Amino acid sequence: MALTTSTNNNQALLDAQLELWHTTFAYMKSMALKSALDLGIADAIHSHGGNATLPQIGSRATPTLHPSKIPCLRRLMRVLTATGIFSAAHHDDAGGTELVYGLTPASQLLVGGSSSLTPFMSLVLHGIFVSPFFGLGTWFQQEHSDPSLFEMTHGQTAWDLNDHNPAFGQLFNQGMVCDSSFIMDIVVKECGDVFRGLSSIVDVAGGLGGAAMAISTAFPHVQCSVLDLPHVAANAPASTSVKYIAGDMFENIPPADAVFLKWVLHDWGDADCIKILKNCKKAIPPRDEGGKVIILDMVVGGQSSNIKHKETQVLFDLFIMFVNGVERDEQEWKKIIFEAGFSDYKIIPILGVRSIIEVYP
Ligand SMILES: C[S@@+](CC[C@H](N)C(=O)[O-])C[C@H]1O[C@@H](n2cnc3c(N)ncnc32)[C@H](O)[C@@H]1O
Repeated sequence: MALTTSTNNNQALLDAQLELWHTTFAYMKSMALKSALDLGIADAIHSHGGNATLPQIGSRATPTLHPSKIPCLRRLMRVLTATGIFSAAHHDDAGGTELVYGLTPASQLLVGGSSSLTPFMSLVLHGIFVSPFFGLGTWFQQEHSDPSLFEMTHGQTAWDLNDHNPAFGQLFNQGMVCDSSFIMDIVVKECGDVFRGLSSIVDVAGGLGGAAMAISTAFPHVQCSVLDLPHVAANAPASTSVKYIAGDMFENIPPADAVFLKWVLHDWGDADCIKILKNCKKAIPPRDEGGKVIILDMVVGGQSSNIKHKETQVLFDLFIMFVNGVERDEQEWKKIIFEAGFSDYKIIPILGVRSIIEVYP
């Protein structure tokens, strides 16, 4: 009896230690993914017809791997297959059995071309975005939220850094464009009704206009414009159907039937969101004339029982805290929407971890 109790205790201790180790080393998953992005492993496998051995990946990776690193590549690929980014299967040939790596639905999204999500993943895993989290414990000791964790680390806001560091600014904007192209394709197919009846829309803080371009392509009769800071608007693509306006959403939002806000309000605290939403309300007609604000952001919680879904939302919330942003639950959205003077809202939860929220004046 005593032996069993002691064995149970020891097992419980080992399980507890495993729990700690599992979380402690979880960042190796992110770093392995970052290496795969840096080396273009998804493209290397794709260019080999969707299946490739280690030497084939090594020679097709960009930049090319040194052949002496092939045993290390095997260890990297073991993590990336254990986490579902790539698949691995034993293939028999005349020379024996070899391990062949393939693409999964996740890594298919990393294959180059206009629909690749690589720019967004590379942005989130960039040192400029990752390094602030080493100071999170220090930031928690300060009384106020200003400066943000990002400012505490880099001495400037993310928007100023994008301006002062054009190479990073470009990475940031391209990351946003690729996410917009991906999700807007689904928005247009799954909830295109949101845009029906509109003759104009302004994509506020719309970056290089990835979302506005998708709306304009799907609904050519809708006049689309993008408002963003001058240094972003200055790099906007020429000759598109979208009009780019340099400005500040805290000062003025140009008039349109609807305002679109994708991944904007989650960057700001409640007081700033209320200012932005009040400016949106000034820019649109009344509800009976079709005026509305269309928000694309997360609504934390909701219906999903999917544990990965829930965990991703709370991880994203902790991530966005680094610019003093918040991923809000429905009650938190309701508070800022009504405090900004709107009368009603509707959540359309069909974009995975994100939702569309229609907000009516
Ligand atoms: C997270 S990005 C979202 C970009 C775009 N909506 C998307 O999802 O692809 C936030 C955007 O807000 C812009 N921004 C920040 N402050 C702004 C301001 N005061 N007025 C207008 N845009 C601003 C940034 O330049 C950046 O393009």
